[in-house]
Amino acid sequence: MKYSGYAYIYTIGCQMNVYDSEKLASILNSYGFEKTGDMDKADIVVCNTCSIRHKAEEKAFSFLGRFAKIKKKNPHLITVMAGCVAQQEGKKAFDRVPHLDIVLGTRAFSRFGQHIDSVKSGKKRITDIEDSGVIYEALPDTSCFDENKVSRFITIMQGCENFCTYCVVPYVRGRERSRSPESIIEEITLYAKAGVKEITLLGQNVNSYGQKEGQSSFPELLAGINEINGIHRIRFATSHPKDLSMELIHAIRDLDKVCNHLHLPVQSGSNQILKKMNRGYTREKYMDRIMALKEQCRGIALSTDIIVGFPSETKEDFTDTMDLLRQIEFDSIFAFAYSDRSSAPAARFSDQIDEKEKLVRLNRLLELQEYYTEKKNKEQVGKTLEILVEGKSCKKRDGLEQSFQNMEQMAGRTQSNKIVHFPSEHARIGDIIKIRIENAYPHSLWGHPLGA
Ligand code: 5AD
Ligand code: SF4
Repeated sequence: MKYSGYAYIYTIGCQMNVYDSEKLASILNSYGFEKTGDMDKADIVVCNTCSIRHKAEEKAFSFLGRFAKIKKKNPHLITVMAGCVAQQEGKKAFDRVPHLDIVLGTRAFSRFGQHIDSVKSGKKRITDIEDSGVIYEALPDTSCFDENKVSRFITIMQGCENFCTYCVVPYVRGRERSRSPESIIEEITLYAKAGVKEITLLGQNVNSYGQKEGQSSFPELLAGINEINGIHRIRFATSHPKDLSMELIHAIRDLDKVCNHLHLPVQSGSNQILKKMNRGYTREKYMDRIMALKEQCRGIALSTDIIVGFPSETKEDFTDTMDLLRQIEFDSIFAFAYSDRSSAPAARFSDQIDEKEKLVRLNRLLELQEYYTEKKNKEQVGKTLEILVEGKSCKKRDGLEQSFQNMEQMAGRTQSNKIVHFPSEHARIGDIIKIRIENAYPHSLWGHPLGA
């Protein structure tokens, strides 16, 4: 059916959820619901949820809880819980949010429209957490794309079979499956035609892309995407250290559009903890991959994920993680305090760490990394770097030379994913320009366009 109204979508969590929300927006658009940023105007509200940590899950319940009152005033408002919490909770979601209309699991997107029709014809409390067994591959409607968004995500595979003991992903996103290379290339070609310059390929473990299906390997897929006209940069996340092949390292080195940056989650620097996490590698094996990357891909930027306070993590285990940071000197890290997830095995492990102690460790780790992030930023001063212009800068620099004072301040990213602010009269969103880096700050760089 075709309706007429507005849809407000609130996204919590990872890049894959951002991408999924766009797919939901496309479905809603085809049913006549135009996307709005104004919640008060909405006829349908969708919360695309994340269950990776307790905090993210609570955020979803508290957002949706607000609609109890609003629905009393406007009973026609449709409320939807989509994504990982929906998948995990199923019907139980109605216990905490009784006014919800639809609980839409991670693999039920293809049936979203039909559930809207059912709500419109009076059906209440619909739950769909079925797995259709195939990836929802409908191409996005690029006509509702924001033309200023020159960098986009694309999911190339779903699910995970690694079963790290702290992680809910295998339970909420299901077994691993890959999209066909043809449909990925078709979708990215559409993006390129819509003005997209940078693409980030998403999967829980892109290194095992296509293996189950016996189709192209991940490096072969990268080579295919490298040929797409209009795309200038290719990024991907996430790589599992245990499956990082030399073939992929060579692809990063040799394919001109693949950025010289890798996000390689280590999670812990202690072998004991890595084993309990079921990560499938040791600290030494991880170091070996890092050395190969640094040797083959000169100047590569590295980032990682770390969990502190995993059950039984001793002070010595934590010191091992701190040492790893000193040894590798990552450009940036994402660090988290371990959060118990009832469906993941680690929730039943003994020796849970006190919450306060987790925060002490987290802050020490972040403080140490601040030093390396700033150090890496300072190393860029004096270099000329290629920037993809992404928008106007929200930062105003004091003490600019006279000639720059009246110019627009713009912002973009380097290949290594560092933010650069710069003054420019001519730079447009989507341009790739060369900037000479003049200053480094803890979280960004500042420079002048070449020739300015
Ligand atoms: N607690 C804390 N952090 C977690 N992550 C995954 N599960 C948990 C958890 N239970 C982190 C990992 C992963 C990132 C996406 O989230 O570091 O790489
Ligand atoms: Fe979770 Fe491990 Fe799979 Fe990553 S590789 S999604 S951490 S189970």
